[in-house]
Amino acid sequence: AKQIQIAIDGPAGAGKSTIAKIVAEKLNFTYIDTGAMYRAVTHKAMQLGIQLDDSEALEKMLHATKIELEPSINGQLVYVDGVNVSEVIRSNEVTANVSQVAAHANIREVLVAMQQQLAADGAVVMDGRDIATHVLTNAELKVFMSASVEERARRRYLDNERRGIQSSIERLQEEIALRDKLDSEREASPLIQAADAVYLDTTNLTIDEAAEAILKLAYDVM
Ligand code: C5P
Repeated sequence: AKQIQIAIDGPAGAGKSTIAKIVAEKLNFTYIDTGAMYRAVTHKAMQLGIQLDDSEALEKMLHATKIELEPSINGQLVYVDGVNVSEVIRSNEVTANVSQVAAHANIREVLVAMQQQLAADGAVVMDGRDIATHVLTNAELKVFMSASVEERARRRYLDNERRGIQSSIERLQEEIALRDKLDSEREASPLIQAADAVYLDTTNLTIDEAAEAILKLAYDVM
């Protein structure tokens, strides 16, 4: 089969990573979770006590940081300066702050270059917010995945429960709505559906149904 790039964008909790992982596995493509990179930068900055509105300090830190993504059976592992941060970058604290860090154009520039490099040598499924619009503008398949905010909060709640993280649905709904707002209204590469992306509403789809829908679209362009 042809080696293609699949870009999956959408708001928080729409099921992008879960579904992208399945699609990548079925096609034997590399899965790249770009949100993990923004989370990794946010986590390190918080640990160092760097002000998250200080884009210069963040950039300086980033230039002295090694971020490595490693494919794994569970999708993808993230290492920062050699330390596996795959779990800690999912904390509520990082989640609450990541959109602020991701709003800095200079930080995005560095991470986008890394993402393009990672996708350069082959078939990938990449998920994020600006993949179709900025990172892989020539991707053969672009999907904009969404779901109602209630459903997305419900999924995050169940997800957290599985990870042993306590949360309330109401708070999650607020958190998700706020993150969507910040991600959609920022100046640098805001979350927006690309003109040539297929819209996929997963509100009433199971994980398998959503993955099937994308696989079908992928086979059409392969
Ligand atoms: O996908 P995930 O929810 O892990 O992404 C965390 C945050 O990283 C998003 O809310 C957004 O602020 C930022 N992000 C981004 N561009 C991407 C991926 C993630 O701005 N391509």
